[in-house]
Amino acid sequence: MNRGKTAVIVGAQWGDEGKGKIVDVLTQTFSVVARYAGGHNAGHTVIVNGKKFILQLVPGGILRPECTSVIGNGVVLDPMALLKEVASLRDAGVKVDGNLFISNRAQVILPYHRMMELGSENAPGRVKIGTTSRGIGPSYEDKMGRRGLRVADLLDAKLLRTHIENACREKNMIAHALFNSDPLDADKMFKEYAEAAEKIAPFVRDTALLLNQALAAGKSVVFEGAQGTMLDIDHGTYPFVTSSSATSGGAVTGTGVPPTAIDTVIGITKAYCTRVGGGPFPSELTDAQGEDLRKRGNEYGAVTGRPRRTGWLDLPLLRYAGMINGISWLVVTKLDVLDHLKEIPVCVRYKVNGKETAEVPAQACGYESIECVYRNMPGWATPTQGMRTVEELPKAAREYLAFIEKETGARVGMISTGPDREQTILVPDFVSQLGLKSPAARA
Ligand code: IMP
Repeated sequence: MNRGKTAVIVGAQWGDEGKGKIVDVLTQTFSVVARYAGGHNAGHTVIVNGKKFILQLVPGGILRPECTSVIGNGVVLDPMALLKEVASLRDAGVKVDGNLFISNRAQVILPYHRMMELGSENAPGRVKIGTTSRGIGPSYEDKMGRRGLRVADLLDAKLLRTHIENACREKNMIAHALFNSDPLDADKMFKEYAEAAEKIAPFVRDTALLLNQALAAGKSVVFEGAQGTMLDIDHGTYPFVTSSSATSGGAVTGTGVPPTAIDTVIGITKAYCTRVGGGPFPSELTDAQGEDLRKRGNEYGAVTGRPRRTGWLDLPLLRYAGMINGISWLVVTKLDVLDHLKEIPVCVRYKVNGKETAEVPAQACGYESIECVYRNMPGWATPTQGMRTVEELPKAAREYLAFIEKETGARVGMISTGPDREQTILVPDFVSQLGLKSPAARA
């Protein structure tokens, strides 16, 4: 049998692009969804028949019982957050048993990771990243420092006790010395986490093996990214980034499938831009216009509730995301948020010291000298919410999308015209290349 087809879903901006919704559409026909990076800092909002689900750790495939959902080794797993999410899914009648699997090689987030993060984010003189305070960074630090706890170790009570005792001793001393934090109780922590481990055990597998076997058996796999390209630890606006490989390369290292198994990379972009937390944002709007976009787009963090910063679409960044990820298809979300505008400025080029540049700065301070060159695109000033075919879209909206295609070299395969599963336009070529159900078949 031929290997199953695959697609990577990657955020092309700073996260919150609406990846959850495209994963949901792909799982109509894809068999497996594998999350490859990040942790419960992510919040994927999916609305099915008016019911809202915010998924933080569990992949979007969970909302379709026939789909297998995998939390890959690249993820940092907070056992308590996972169990809470699983409980709320069960309460909502969503099947999680026998279709959700967690990598035995994923790293575990423990309470001292949060303690270290809070201390360091609030310490005087430190650069404040504006993290989600979930312990993500310190957990990846321990992974790379080769002192982390993996899910396989979590299930081994003896090892867990020793690990927690040693780690608490060390972290308590450091946190007290550096941040004057109160010490954590290792004994209490062990009891709580040993109990959680028992509940998690039935979900744990060698998911690299599971995924490679699924592919060999001809099953299709979606790799679900978290956050976005500009939050990637290597390629983002460092140090204002998350601590994992959010770009498409992370799909390989974060799940254990080979690079040769990746067929297509789908980049998700809003029709404008947002960012949560600190760091550069060249096309940011800090005026009433930005506030208006925030209100119309309901731009408040799904996880932390923080207001998102807003700005116009940034094509140099989208081209960069295309290059880093190898994006062949773009999905444009929240097009309807621009419905009221008569003119839509789009950043088409960057200028530094009066000279055009295709380069994205390596240093966060490098963004300060960037001048965005805008082009005003005609707005459509008419509602597009809920539209389901390209033909229905006003001419100016089609031109806006065609302009994005021309400037990025990627094709727009899907357009989201509202938060619900059905408020989606699927381009026929995208449907046929990815083997999706045609819109008529979905109705
Ligand atoms: P951390 O991932 O909690 O360490 O936060 C690092 C940076 O990434 C902060 O600016 C966060 O606001 C941002 N961030 C992390 N997860 C998300 C997300 O899912 N959407 C948007 N921004 C995120």
